[in-house]
Amino acid sequence: MFFSFRNFKILPAILLSLSLICCSGRNSTSLKQTSGSDSSKSLTYEERQGRQLYKKYCAVCHGEEGKGDGFNAFNLDPKPRNFTDSIYMSALSDERIVETISQGGRGVNRSMLMPTWGGRLKREEIKYVVSYIRRFSYSE
Ligand code: HEC
Repeated sequence: MFFSFRNFKILPAILLSLSLICCSGRNSTSLKQTSGSDSSKSLTYEERQGRQLYKKYCAVCHGEEGKGDGFNAFNLDPKPRNFTDSIYMSALSDERIVETISQGGRGVNRSMLMPTWGGRLKREEIKYVVSYIRRFSYSE
């Protein structure tokens, strides 16, 4: 018979490789589209997780685009940090940013108006947020 038992065993492998080919095909087309308006497509997994957290917890003060101009910012002195300031941001190490987020401004000798997030965000989530914040100051 044409379909022997041995052929059935390799069928799943064939299907798997077919679906891999399909998926990678899709990815490459979506990559081509990223030069368009929606830059979020080029975010890594970590950055996408970070973006959700950022919008939820940080954007009110630091602004949707990280410019330190969230709707709560007018109220604050000093102002929330502007994450698009690449000179300032490049002087901050990832560790320092993680520390600021988890311990708040008070923990790193900055304004207490920067809240403490260590109780609410897991360390992993804080790292996601840091990777997203870094995107604001990429020069493109
Ligand atoms: C209530 C408003 C507010 C919220 C919400 C807020 N921040 Fe801030 N943040 C501030 C202020 C004000 C400063 C400036 C502190 C200073 O310069 O003394 C600041 C500063 C910072 C800095 C720079 C610290 C430095 O060393 O210069 C980082 C990084 C930061 N915030 C990250 C975050 C992240 C991430 C979130 C969300 C999880 C967040 N902030 C939410 C108000 C806020």
